[in-house]
Amino acid sequence: MHAFCAESRVYLTGYADMEVPILKFTPNPQSRRAFLRGSAATMAGIVTAQTASGTQADPLITKVQDWASLTGDGVDATPYGLPIKFESDVVRRNVPWLTASPISSINFTPIHALDGTITPQGCAFERHHSGAIELSKSDYRLMVNGLVDQPLVFSYADLERLPRENHVYFCECAANTGMEWAGAQLNGVQFTHGMIHNMEYTGVSLRSVLQEAGLAAAGDLQDKWVYVEGADASSNGRSIPMEKALDDVLVAFKANGEALRKEHGYPVRLVVPGWEGNMWVKWLRRIEVMDGPVESREETSKYTDVLEDGTARKWTWVMDAKSVITSPSPQAPIQHGPGALVITGLAWSGHGSIKRVDISKDGGRNWETARLSNHENNKALARFYFEMDWQGEEMLLQARAMDETGYVQPSKQQLRKLRGENSVYHNNCIQTWHVKPTGEVENVEVS
Ligand code: MTE
Ligand code: CO
Repeated sequence: MHAFCAESRVYLTGYADMEVPILKFTPNPQSRRAFLRGSAATMAGIVTAQTASGTQADPLITKVQDWASLTGDGVDATPYGLPIKFESDVVRRNVPWLTASPISSINFTPIHALDGTITPQGCAFERHHSGAIELSKSDYRLMVNGLVDQPLVFSYADLERLPRENHVYFCECAANTGMEWAGAQLNGVQFTHGMIHNMEYTGVSLRSVLQEAGLAAAGDLQDKWVYVEGADASSNGRSIPMEKALDDVLVAFKANGEALRKEHGYPVRLVVPGWEGNMWVKWLRRIEVMDGPVESREETSKYTDVLEDGTARKWTWVMDAKSVITSPSPQAPIQHGPGALVITGLAWSGHGSIKRVDISKDGGRNWETARLSNHENNKALARFYFEMDWQGEEMLLQARAMDETGYVQPSKQQLRKLRGENSVYHNNCIQTWHVKPTGEVENVEVS
């Protein structure tokens, strides 16, 4: 009974035979004394059947509703389910002015409305350079050629006969948060940070695929590379150093237990853990073992980072540690009034696991450590929570991640000092949300 609060005792009168007291829920005062101070009395949104003072009964409790008196859908109504209609606004969205055409464009994961860490495929961001193509398993071919003992072509069924693995990894486009370099621009975490998804992949190691073709012909593997390309018109070719290719790269054909969706590379895509999304080649058609990088379009004029002096960083593959508060945020304002508030968000690092996430309510002056809800993130999203008592005060909310290497997510100023403002890619700076007394939230920059 300790989780309930005696003074909020109410009685249900709609049910004649139920003369038991119905108690109003509040957080446990034992473990949460400080948390509760000032908030128990003001917990908003709690519905009671009929309060002791005799206000209106709640028909949702006292009246028999349609869903309780009629039958629901049969099991044949939805052979493959979609989210219920009440969740229809939790969808990918794009920013039409960002690109000339939706064929070579990007849309964004609604991270403000998701929880946990796994991204459902149906709302995981898409990035295509020449549109999402339809390629069947029976038409699928994967060629392995170049400096191999025996060039090979794999069918989809051939890949399924290699030893399979399952791993959860995040995929972040290098351009995620790219629009925010010069100043706060897009008013929603879906748009500032939504070029990310996190799925459980089933596939075979790239190592095992390469070993089938044999790497003796390649000689010393230290300075060798693989060039990977897709079957779509853009081909999206990228060079990957052999060391990474033999480490944790997957040739994946399932995501979150089911076949990859068309837009994520059905039937086969490359998964390059911790490295920029552009290297995760979809509709994977060819892997060539080479004695150097190709220096393709996607690794020279694109996906390099132009610095203040006009020179560019290249081979910036790893996505550095980053975090963001997903709620409250501009698309997820505080609507419940003062009292208990749960702050939550995501953190990730291409270097391994997230060790700590700190929260600031005052634009980075003071920091408190948030609670990580999962610790098994290796190049995968971690979810953090921070519970507080909010009394309508303005806040400049920030999250700051630290990964297993000890690297700490930089502020925007720190990042600009290093990289200037010409960059588009690899913006992993701390994000600031301005929470107003109304509960509304705005994207701002703290200087
Ligand atoms: N692979 C092919 N074949 N064609 C592409 O356009 N886009 C790349 C990469 N792989 C792309 C591709 C980019 S830039 C990113 S960020 C990721 O795929 C996005 O993967 P997603 O669409 O599954 O989110
Ligand atoms: Co990308």
